[in-house]
Amino acid sequence: MNPTKQAKIFDKHAKLYEKRRNKITIDTKLRKKLLANASGNILEVSAGTGTNFPLYRNVTSLTAVDFSPEMVRYAKGAAQEVSYDCTVIQEDVEELMFQENQFDTIVSTLSMCSYPNPDFVLGQMSRWCKPGGQILLFEHGISSNKVAARLQEKLDPLLSERIGCHLDRDIIKLVNNKLKVTKVESHLMGTFHLIWATPYK
Ligand SMILES: C[S@@+](CC[C@H](N)C(=O)[O-])C[C@H]1O[C@@H](n2cnc3c(N)ncnc32)[C@H](O)[C@@H]1O
Repeated sequence: MNPTKQAKIFDKHAKLYEKRRNKITIDTKLRKKLLANASGNILEVSAGTGTNFPLYRNVTSLTAVDFSPEMVRYAKGAAQEVSYDCTVIQEDVEELMFQENQFDTIVSTLSMCSYPNPDFVLGQMSRWCKPGGQILLFEHGISSNKVAARLQEKLDPLLSERIGCHLDRDIIKLVNNKLKVTKVESHLMGTFHLIWATPYK
């Protein structure tokens, strides 16, 4: 799907994300666990309305990126509510041009399902992250349960066009191909994963 069309789909969802932003939801505990040790100069890709912003504890600066103008509008509001330096940029993650080794920590929550080229984005994250830095991911993908996985595969062509997000990506395989994974925790029939990784450098 072309990025302009996809960003418009997310624009339509932005109000819903904003409503959920400050609520304790089923995934709040998982987000907190993943982000507990995020530190230094942090990049958050596809940050949505800024749900993760209050969960960071040890930030020097946060750069948050999203390509949906509506998500960015809300995220800029969320950035005003935190006490650390937080910059929100409207850009397609696949077009970003950061320097090599620019960030101590890179975070993505629920975004690998959306990119046309997730391999490329993971490669970029590896490049932008300092050696020994952290790449922290909370992602969903194809279930480890065969029945659920077949359903995801069947629904994917229809739903991905409507919601801008793929249901059937093998996230663990994708990440293992590009990053040095140090820990994985899977939930909900192996559909959601917390992944702690570092670049190969
Ligand atoms: C499922 S939402 C997750 C939002 C947020 N990360 C969270 O955890 O609540 C996916 C987000 O990715 C953004 N997104 C998808 N593809 C993108 C791209 N290529 N560049 C920038 N943002 C993108 C969407 O606009 C949306 O805000």
